[in-house]
Amino acid sequence: MSEAKTKQQGAVQTTGHAWDGDIQEFNNPLPRWWLWGFYASVVFAVLYWVIYPAWPVGKGYTTGLFNNITYTVNGEERSRHWNTRSLLVKDMQTGDEALKTKEYMQKVAAADYRQILADPDMMAFVRSVTKGLFGDNCAACHGSGGAGVMGLFPNLADDDWLWGGSVEDIQNTITLGHTGYMPGFARTFSDEQLDDVAHFVLSLSGHEVPADKVARGKQLFTGEGGGCYYCHTAAGTGMKSQGSANLTDNIWTIADVQGQTELTGKVDAVKTVIRNGVNRVMPTWQGRLDENQIKLLSVYVHELGGGQ
Ligand code: HEC
Ligand code: HEC
Repeated sequence: MSEAKTKQQGAVQTTGHAWDGDIQEFNNPLPRWWLWGFYASVVFAVLYWVIYPAWPVGKGYTTGLFNNITYTVNGEERSRHWNTRSLLVKDMQTGDEALKTKEYMQKVAAADYRQILADPDMMAFVRSVTKGLFGDNCAACHGSGGAGVMGLFPNLADDDWLWGGSVEDIQNTITLGHTGYMPGFARTFSDEQLDDVAHFVLSLSGHEVPADKVARGKQLFTGEGGGCYYCHTAAGTGMKSQGSANLTDNIWTIADVQGQTELTGKVDAVKTVIRNGVNRVMPTWQGRLDENQIKLLSVYVHELGGGQ
């Protein structure tokens, strides 16, 4: 042990123990700042137990000194002791955000669709509050971005509409629901006729297909043999009142034509729809969502699809 080190150790008191021959323990007093900090935290803790809900007592707990949070439940005013849950409920009812939402909601409720669509502030509001509403009620089928599922649920994010794409049309769809119905032609058509009419359908959207099949298919489509024109119109452009697909735009919601690279695959996809028909239901939301919620959703979906 060096001389300097011994001297330094001699300056402070040690506990008197020595380990391994020469390792000693200093006996310094606690630093003053530390000690006061310790006392202060004890005082703080005791005050905290008294002021705020803290100790379990029997089946309950001490509720603290403040009994000042009031909020309304089903129109009835309630007063509770301080707790973060009630604070949140109160904030959601009367906080700045809540008041702003309420104010905007009244504005949207009073406005007509043209006014809402023309007002960037109201549109921003619609987007922010309706995203959740759409997520809760519609995304299960249509997907969170409205992209739908081929064959099952139509894409709401394109500007192709079965039942019309004006805000009023969309409101009507959401309020009353719709059934997309097309009979199956499995028993009406022979396999050759099915093949012909499918080729004709593909020719409508500009696919290069054999002319003889198209000619025969057209007979079936526009004549009493198939009667397709009755719902799709003779030109194949579809009818809003039937929710029948436009077959000329190369946008497909049931027959996965775009997913096929070979013509035979495309023909098969169309044949399957014609053979089996379609029966799918968009549920009604009347009674499940209120008028204003449907209004918000109509504007939201209209914007998703670029409107019409
Ligand atoms: C149970 C599944 C399901 C749910 C949930 C659902 N939809 Fe639909 N929706 C459908 C189906 C299926 C169709 C297609 C109906 C048809 O083929 O005519 C459809 C069609 C639509 C259309 C018409 C599209 C067009 O091209 O004209 C709109 C708009 C729409 N849904 C909006 C909504 C909104 C908004 C919600 C939420 C409030 C919602 N849907 C919830 C299944 C659903
Ligand atoms: C009773 C009315 C009705 C008749 C008749 C009818 N369709 Fe349809 N068809 C519809 C409806 C409605 C849809 C769209 C259903 C949906 O999207 O929910 C549809 C969809 C289709 C589709 C799928 C389009 C896509 O986007 O995937 C094809 C293909 C089609 N029809 C072909 C025909 C052919 C060919 C005939 C005649 C043999 C025919 N339809 C007769 C009502 C009809």
